Amino acid sequence: MKFFTSLLLAVQAGIHCALAQDDTVIYTDKASGIVFNTWAPSPSVTVGLALPSNALTTDATEFIGMITCQGKGWCGVSMGGGMNENLLLLVYPQDGAVLTSLRWAENYQLPGVYTGDAKLTQVSSTVNSTHYSVIFRCKNCFQWQQGTSEVGKVSTSEGYLVLGWCFATASPSGGSCPNTLTVQQHATQGLFAAPLTDAVVHSEYSAWAAKATLVVTGKC
Ligand code: HEM
Ligand SMILES: *[C@@H]1O[C@H](CO)[C@@H](O)[C@H](O)[C@H]1NC(C)=O
Repeated sequence: MKFFTSLLLAVQAGIHCALAQDDTVIYTDKASGIVFNTWAPSPSVTVGLALPSNALTTDATEFIGMITCQGKGWCGVSMGGGMNENLLLLVYPQDGAVLTSLRWAENYQLPGVYTGDAKLTQVSSTVNSTHYSVIFRCKNCFQWQQGTSEVGKVSTSEGYLVLGWCFATASPSGGSCPNTLTVQQHATQGLFAAPLTDAVVHSEYSAWAAKATLVVTGKC
């Protein structure tokens, strides 16, 4: 825990540099018109966010996200940075679709299914020979509760997030059903700072969120 606290302090110190030399790339999805602030913490993983218009003053509980990853394996993000005791999102291509699974870990082993009330719906997804990508709304994903005691959140009003990412080249086992699949440990992982500026909040947020109508469940 002591190590983790000093890690967080180190990351937070790093954020001030990140703020000074913001590596955000703005990306507009042509089909939906949704505008994302994106970060590429690895050449294999790009994460995008669009936030509700008041997210810099009132902590947002939801977001519109984009995750684009290389290859045909799986990748993931942690809403709170570290793998453990934060809401995790696992993403992978399956039969031309992109499937997702919300997960929760208490230790560095295969995370179980998240049992809180978060809800993910897709705007769109693409799979091609080199990448898979999904645009989605994640409701109740900036706060979490697993069971009765494990509660946490991030604060968008603080002006930055520390997110975690991971990347695997091997496909999940049993990937046709997102919540029963298993994975082996990712090949690469890390934390990254996402500075939240005026560019990440949008007056169009509600209209964009309404486009996330696809419930993509796989075959379970
Ligand atoms: C069998 C499955 C998994 C195993 C054995 C595993 C194991 C580990 C280990 C050992 C680390 C620390 C690596 C280091 O510091 O060198 C780590 C980090 C990480 N993992 Fe996993 N992992 C698994 C699945 C997942 C999944 C499904 C996600 C997200 C969807 C995830 C997200 C992360 C993140 C964001 C980190 C970096 C932050 C941290 O060190 O806490 N992992 N994992
Ligand atoms: C495949 O998808 C990725 C991510 O969406 C995109 O950057 C890339 O240009 C696409 N490649 C082809 C050949 O269409």
